[in-house]
Amino acid sequence: MNTLGLLCSGGDAPGMNMALWAAARSAEARGWRVLGVHGGYQGLLGGSVEPWPADRLRPFARLGGAVLGTSRVPDFTRQVGAAAAQARSAGITHALVLGGDGSLRGAGLLNRAGLPTVGLPATIDNDVPGSAATVGFDSAVNFALPLADALLDTAEALPRLCALETLGGNTGHLAQAVGDACGADVVLVPEAPLAAPELAGRVSAALARRRHALIVASEGYPALEGVLDALAREVGLRLRLTRLGHAQRGGRPSARDRLLAGALAGEAADLLARGHAGVLAWRGAPTLLEFAAPAQQEA
Ligand code: F6P
Repeated sequence: MNTLGLLCSGGDAPGMNMALWAAARSAEARGWRVLGVHGGYQGLLGGSVEPWPADRLRPFARLGGAVLGTSRVPDFTRQVGAAAAQARSAGITHALVLGGDGSLRGAGLLNRAGLPTVGLPATIDNDVPGSAATVGFDSAVNFALPLADALLDTAEALPRLCALETLGGNTGHLAQAVGDACGADVVLVPEAPLAAPELAGRVSAALARRRHALIVASEGYPALEGVLDALAREVGLRLRLTRLGHAQRGGRPSARDRLLAGALAGEAADLLARGHAGVLAWRGAPTLLEFAAPAQQEA
């Protein structure tokens, strides 16, 4: 019997649960059985698999996190053969992996190891090649935006130099989106570090015009704390830093993420049913999951 194995990997993302439910519904509509892997690739290696039909998943669809649990597996490359064998012995004939870039490269390896696998882009970082938006990104931007607005409210009233640090790993998509949406004076992203004089110049110009400034920075910006300390010394003001931390990864999925999760999960189930695998489900334009696979990687 065709059996879909659902697996979440890497950092959880709001909307993962909606995608799991939607994938289960689509698979069951085709007469497939649905199993859930607990704890990502680590759980798969340990054989932690049990039935997760759509009706069991439904109450979780509107919640954040990942009901199946997830994991990070350094060096999944060496263990992928064992993972595929475990999946087969649990009765899984096809797999759907939800995760970010490393996790989805792992899905590509799983497919190459003989288990037909499709990937679904789900990470707050929005860093999956071949997808314009990942499930979870919109929710993480929406989590941060009211806090950025609130910082501006108070920074305008009692003039302050404020900074807001977002998650995002070594990418700046989250920080950029939050900064653009709230009208930050400067957005610091790891992909394009600013020279210290340019940063000081931009912040000083904002302070000169209206006595307050807001910087939005990605956690992955090189030596962020040192950069902010040096900036505060340069402009002669105390800088107040707010860190969003892991709270930004939790919370209920936004409407946009729920809709994206539902659409991509349906598409993923359809791809598998039509005999396609080794690809990322993305709006009718699936790309191969083998984007720039390094020899050693964390899945
Ligand atoms: O899943 C992506 C992410 O949330 C990044 O934004 C962040 O840097 C990282 O995961 C944190 O990972 P961990 O929870 O393993 O510390």
